[in-house]
Amino acid sequence: MQPTKDYRASHLERGASYDSYLASVPFDTYMADWERRHLVAIVGQLFPSGGPVRYLDFACGTGRVAAAVAPLCQSALGIDISSSMLSVARQKVPRVTFRQADLTTEDPDLGEFDLVTSFRFFGNAQDELREGALRAIVKRMAPAGYLIINSHRNPRSLASLFDRLTGGNAGNMDLHLGKLRAMLERHGLRIRKLRPIGAWMYRSKLLNAYRSDDPRAIANEQRFSRPWLAAISPDLIVVAQRS
Ligand SMILES: C[S@@+](CC[C@H](N)C(=O)[O-])C[C@H]1O[C@@H](n2cnc3c(N)ncnc32)[C@H](O)[C@@H]1O
Repeated sequence: MQPTKDYRASHLERGASYDSYLASVPFDTYMADWERRHLVAIVGQLFPSGGPVRYLDFACGTGRVAAAVAPLCQSALGIDISSSMLSVARQKVPRVTFRQADLTTEDPDLGEFDLVTSFRFFGNAQDELREGALRAIVKRMAPAGYLIINSHRNPRSLASLFDRLTGGNAGNMDLHLGKLRAMLERHGLRIRKLRPIGAWMYRSKLLNAYRSDDPRAIANEQRFSRPWLAAISPDLIVVAQRS
């Protein structure tokens, strides 16, 4: 089911509370930690002879993802619509340039990027915003450039399916892998890698029960990070390339 509100307004006043909110939810902390580990490894694999020259973090928020990726790049720009999120980002990640803009309604000349990331955005946004964001991102990607996003609200994760079977609504999520793939392909993006996170957590109770450095969690993340588990995973990193 699609959200009724425009996601653009969701974080306008949340800069001061966003990081502490993420830190207060064990599974959010778990996802953030595994996303960072995978991102650093993936960027190294995609650019083996040195990091990407120009990097853009779309909907960068307080700079969580830019802080992990920017050290691997020659230049880094974070874009977000929320000035409160950006003022935290500017303090936390001074090496990154941050700019307030909504690229779905404004068209500043930012040049081309070898790598774009966008995390915790596509799973939350409504379809119109997802489409506008992809249009704006692809327009700024270098030929054969990469887009890395995550999808952390999968209605077909085992935990969501189990939740619905036991009477829950699993948070009104709609972005399953098939829908995401079709959306990316409509914008000329081909999926190159899938890295599931938490695919072994088959019940929502399990989602908040483990720290990311728990030895059982580490062993299970290695065992269950196969691409074919992406369709049932509660969080997923998707690497797509401009064709
Ligand atoms: C959940 S936060 C994610 C922040 C960061 N990417 C992360 O993973 O921690 C979603 C962000 O999307 C931003 N956003 C929503 N609509 C946007 C738009 N049209 N252009 C740029 N940013 C937008 C919000 O302001 C918010 O900072």
